Amino acid sequence: MSDINILLEKNKAWASKVKAEQPEFFEYLSAGQSPEYLWIGCADSRVPANEIIGAISGDIFVHRNIANMVIHTDINCLSVIQYAVDILKVKHIIVCGHYDCGGVKASMTDEEYGLIDNWLGHIKDVYRLHQEKIDALETEKEKQDLLCEVNVLEQVKNVCNSSILRKAWERGQDIKVHGFIYDVSDGVLKDLNVSVD
Ligand code: CO
Repeated sequence: MSDINILLEKNKAWASKVKAEQPEFFEYLSAGQSPEYLWIGCADSRVPANEIIGAISGDIFVHRNIANMVIHTDINCLSVIQYAVDILKVKHIIVCGHYDCGGVKASMTDEEYGLIDNWLGHIKDVYRLHQEKIDALETEKEKQDLLCEVNVLEQVKNVCNSSILRKAWERGQDIKVHGFIYDVSDGVLKDLNVSVD
């Protein structure tokens, strides 16, 4: 079987297993979605949003990109946030970073990677904002880890400062923004305690 057909076979097996365990599951999902969470995470294959928080289909609305960035001119990410806030009325937005993030690590070098260098420029901006604290650390690993953490903090700020959240809070909508970080080496998700409401 070719590698790509394995995916289709696995899907078939999964769909039958779910149906066997919960016969009404797909019927229930067909009626629509009302997730309470919006997850903004890294595209890294080791940080699958649903899986690491034990969520099932319908639980979380997800946006992922390289290094879990929220850029004020990124119409893709902003559209996801607007839909989640204005239409789905999620209660929580989680920006989730992770240690050992390739995007964060790449932004700390002067190497050229092509088009993505423009995207990584935004992480370099985050580095400059926290440069003193980061540079004071001894090892490269400590520096990378801190940049992964402060990057989450800055993206939480970007979510909060978006016109979408400002308007939602202005009209009294109940919505909180959180910053989490995930450790790919032990599977543990940590709250960075930067929640805003
Ligand atoms: Co990453």
